[in-house]
Amino acid sequence: METEEEEAKTVSEPVGAEGWAEFGVIGLGVMGANIALNIEEKGTKVAVFNRSYDRTIEFLKSAPSKRFAGAETLSAFVASLASPRAILMMVPAGSAVDETIEGLLPYLRTGDLLIDGGNEFFENTERRAVKLAQQGILYLGMGVSGGETGARHGPSLMPGGKAEAYARAEPVLRKIAAQVDDGPCVTHIGPGGAGHYVKMIHNGIEYGDMQLIAEIYDVLRRVGGLSNDRLAEVFAEWNEGELESYLIEITAKILRRRDDETQGALVDMILDQAKMKGTGSWTVRDAAQRMVPAPTIASAVDARLMSAHRELRLLGASKLAGPIPSLVDSASNSGNAGGAGGAGGANRSPSGACIDDVDALIADARAALYAAKACSYAQGLMLIQAASRDLNWAIDIGEVARIWKGGCIIRAAFLGRIQAAYARKPTLESLLFDADFSQELAARQEGWRRFITLGIASGIPLSASCASLAYYDGVRSARLPANLTQAQRDYFGAHTYARCDRDGVFHTEWSEAS
Ligand code: 6PG
Repeated sequence: METEEEEAKTVSEPVGAEGWAEFGVIGLGVMGANIALNIEEKGTKVAVFNRSYDRTIEFLKSAPSKRFAGAETLSAFVASLASPRAILMMVPAGSAVDETIEGLLPYLRTGDLLIDGGNEFFENTERRAVKLAQQGILYLGMGVSGGETGARHGPSLMPGGKAEAYARAEPVLRKIAAQVDDGPCVTHIGPGGAGHYVKMIHNGIEYGDMQLIAEIYDVLRRVGGLSNDRLAEVFAEWNEGELESYLIEITAKILRRRDDETQGALVDMILDQAKMKGTGSWTVRDAAQRMVPAPTIASAVDARLMSAHRELRLLGASKLAGPIPSLVDSASNSGNAGGAGGAGGANRSPSGACIDDVDALIADARAALYAAKACSYAQGLMLIQAASRDLNWAIDIGEVARIWKGGCIIRAAFLGRIQAAYARKPTLESLLFDADFSQELAARQEGWRRFITLGIASGIPLSASCASLAYYDGVRSARLPANLTQAQRDYFGAHTYARCDRDGVFHTEWSEAS
């Protein structure tokens, strides 16, 4: 006799009776399949659909549960869902979302809910929400962070759209989201494209965090001469303190990982060309359009672009002068990688600076990373505040920090401190102005500057670290040299300027005066 499990394995369309499923998932790629498993595991009957039916069958075979139904056609898929329907699309951003919506529309009714869980550009989400509202369809644009594991066991969810749409999805979303000390990592971010906007900024911050970590690794490795094993220890130790975060944790693990083929460190065998799918550059473009400085995020994108130009770099390495960082020898640091350049048991940096205390360098690196990270988050959060103001989204920044504490790629203990800062003052002009953060940065000042100075003198490209420090120095500069920039603009283009001593718009006939 056929068991219920076997029955589920051999479904054709649809296995569930009409109106049987409580939730639908379209797109059974890595994220879609894992989120469908997560939803089903929380006790929900799920209908699944994939463009290629073979993949649906494969999925159902790998997940033989009574609470799954697969359908071959969109009409059968929609028919298997209870009304009003709730459907989560986990398909690539862009035209695939439009096509999926077009395919679904003939079968949807007023009151049905569509959720886009991809990394979509928020303006596309706004456009679709408006169009679908005209047909009585509720729409949520939802950022989903946490990769494969997050989707399966608890992502951070950033849904945006009408409150009514969120209320419909909320019971399921709360169950599947990562859980932290003060609740599930999901909240109604705001209307329209607010959810996808916040996910875009999450990714911009993710780029910044990753680049800052990479730069710290580079200095400790090439100037401090730390071996991969020693670096792994350093990152693991940092993960026990104020830098505790998913990205620091995996960095320690990555540095320890051996290559099966060469038995050396796997990280040393990986080509130094970083790829990207686009959310980082969207953040940079949005920041420029919104007139909000986000230099750390922009530098992180630039650093990926520079890495991609490997041929240029290989040519440059043979043509351009400058300090050449090289591994150094040290009797005082037994965990170091070794190499040329050591003198008298102390590390000598390529700039000639004597690093006789590697522990002090590591302490400076830790201070630099924390301070630069705070500046990067300040930029991302200021962008969210600006967009929220521009588009009337009323986003609660403290809540955003809260739902980023678990599940997502940038999850970190640090986010609890950001949450507390915005609880103290929800309208905080900059994260850096919170008393706790300003004191923390003041305390790290010396080490932070010393670390960057050493890295620059050694010829290490520190784009994101320098950008964070310049951001900090910019924010604390009551007067910047933009007076000269304005004068130049007025000189060559009569673009006018404002004066310090009185209101008004001014222009000078510069060529006559000179
Ligand atoms: C997440 C990630 C994810 C992103 C990847 C790759 O929150 O789970 O941000 O959404 O797609 O990290 O992004 P890039 O290819 O742009 O590096």
